[in-house]
Amino acid sequence: MKRSAPSGGYDFGPKRDYRRRVWGGISEAVGPHKSDKHILLMPSIEGDEIAVAEGKGFRRANMHVVDANPAIVAHLQRRYPGINTYGVTASRACERITDSGIVLAACNFDFTNSVGFPLLDEIHEIWEHDCIVAGTMLGLTVLRGREPSYMAAALDEVTHCLYNDRAMEETRQSFRGLTKRDVGRMTMVSGVMGLTLHRYGIYLSGKQTMLWWLGRSLGLLSGDGGLSQPLLCDPTIMGLALSAIERAGLPPEAVAKFRGYWLEHVRAFFEALADEALERGQTLDAFYEAYQEEVRSFSCER
Ligand SMILES: C[S@@+](CC[C@H](N)C(=O)[O-])C[C@H]1O[C@@H](n2cnc3c(N)ncnc32)[C@H](O)[C@@H]1O
Repeated sequence: MKRSAPSGGYDFGPKRDYRRRVWGGISEAVGPHKSDKHILLMPSIEGDEIAVAEGKGFRRANMHVVDANPAIVAHLQRRYPGINTYGVTASRACERITDSGIVLAACNFDFTNSVGFPLLDEIHEIWEHDCIVAGTMLGLTVLRGREPSYMAAALDEVTHCLYNDRAMEETRQSFRGLTKRDVGRMTMVSGVMGLTLHRYGIYLSGKQTMLWWLGRSLGLLSGDGGLSQPLLCDPTIMGLALSAIERAGLPPEAVAKFRGYWLEHVRAFFEALADEALERGQTLDAFYEAYQEEVRSFSCER
């Protein structure tokens, strides 16, 4: 079967460690009653991720297994009877899952691409489908490098803004072990999606290095009733990122695309904020103040 993967496939030490950390984080965040929760995963031909998710208490009947290569999912269907399979792109699979009325508790989008418009467009399309709701846990993996030159410039500009804003000091401290460009990668991709950050890591895959992170889809309340860290979807950061992108020399269509992505998220953010404030019987001002205080006390596990 034709596939683009490291020569020995995906059964190697750092990848096993990656699966353990991603699904450990998802399992913790999703909490009890996992056997009722639906998840999306892209396990590739080895299928090891299916066994890892099963080990955490998720049931095959609630697993939505995706690969753009239909031969891969046909093989997995035979090997793991009971799973639901989609031999299409992740965004198309999310459309079908939404059509079935299913809400996903967690997804692991283990992409192999670098950060560029094909990936950002795919992620943005995924985010538009209602199977992903506020609170869905999302894993994302991207290639660490090989960005087109205009995108690398935009990533550096975004990070430059973050690192020059004194208010971002604590946020920066939570990015230990990452390069500035990694922070740009995460901000760019998560800004498009609207994500809060829980865990992240880097691992070697053949000759490439990969960057992964795990977060919660835009929603202001964390599972334990506290406020979630809005790190990568806060409008202030998004505004900074957008002005950076405007200066990065991207083609005008690209800048317009980014502006569209971010405006949507700013709108979604304030809608969520207003809903939460109403639910708590607080004024928007009081709630936003409490929210920012919580943001300042945030630290991220690596
Ligand atoms: C890195 S591998 C997955 C490895 C697996 N998660 C593991 O832990 O062993 C990525 C798989 O996703 C598929 N893929 C990549 N981008 C995709 C997309 N946008 N939609 C659907 N499948 C995609 C590839 O064909 C490949 O089989």
